[in-house]
Amino acid sequence: MKLVQDLSEMTALAASWRGQGLKIALVPTMGWFHAGHLALMRQVRQSADRVVVSLFVNPIQFGPGEDLAAYPRDLQRDMDLAAGEDIDVLYAPSAPDMYPAGFQTTIRVAELGLGLCGASRPGHFDGVCTVVMKLFHQTQPHLAVFGEKDFQQLAVIRRMVRDLDLSIDIVAHPIVRETNGLAMSSRNSYLQEDEKERALCLYRAIIFAQEKVKNAIQPLSAAELCAELEEHIHQIPGFVVDYVEIVDADSLKRCETVTVNSRLILAVKVNERVRLIDNARLYEL
Ligand code: PAJ
Repeated sequence: MKLVQDLSEMTALAASWRGQGLKIALVPTMGWFHAGHLALMRQVRQSADRVVVSLFVNPIQFGPGEDLAAYPRDLQRDMDLAAGEDIDVLYAPSAPDMYPAGFQTTIRVAELGLGLCGASRPGHFDGVCTVVMKLFHQTQPHLAVFGEKDFQQLAVIRRMVRDLDLSIDIVAHPIVRETNGLAMSSRNSYLQEDEKERALCLYRAIIFAQEKVKNAIQPLSAAELCAELEEHIHQIPGFVVDYVEIVDADSLKRCETVTVNSRLILAVKVNERVRLIDNARLYEL
């Protein structure tokens, strides 16, 4: 595994791989690797000749008052973890390289990026799309993998790729969870032990909803189910619901009733400090 921190070195490397007809896969990340990130790396290894993992805590996707400064960063730790995977390049560009003085261009996916997390984090998906587009240009991938953990992000990136005619396959990876069900996240490192225990309410809400759907004789009202889940989470001390929505998995528009294509998406704020998200299908495949 080679560490590349220079943007022009990365573009030159990608161009030479392209010239040799090699297939390139990109795994975009913000680092502080956990088993979810490593699973993404493993998934694309099988279908590419060269795997690039980018590590960049992207300032423009954080809003004012969010956790940009606190976001966990440790390059050596991440290098050690990535070295255990069969990747070719860990690409960690610097912020001044990514956003040179005078930078003023934004990629915006108009509708898909507005609701859900986009509503509570205005501009977040503009920042995500802009950086991902730049990473695509710098690393020239044939395919890129994104986790279903960030379900809206995956939908927004797919839309951007389609709308801008990029010939990049976007591959989805299912959510990787702790054995107790908690979705892995770099932000879990902000949680105290007792908060981690209580954070299981997200996964419990998912299981509860899936059971309810399984046992229902007629289509369930999405709004009623969401209200019931919110009520459960409301009971947990220190937890405030940001949103609980049942949406169509493609359009991300609210569903009236729960259907096979419905996705339950939740976001909560823990003790006004940590924002956690989770999601799941409601019908078994
Ligand atoms: P980050 O939060 O580091 O996540 C990097 C990738 O790992 C994303 O595709 C995310 O969905 C995936 N991921 C995180 N936790 C996961 C889990 N428990 N199971 C499966 N996949 C998981 O998402 C970002 O970074 C940034 O927004 C980025 C796309 C890099 C743009 O800056």
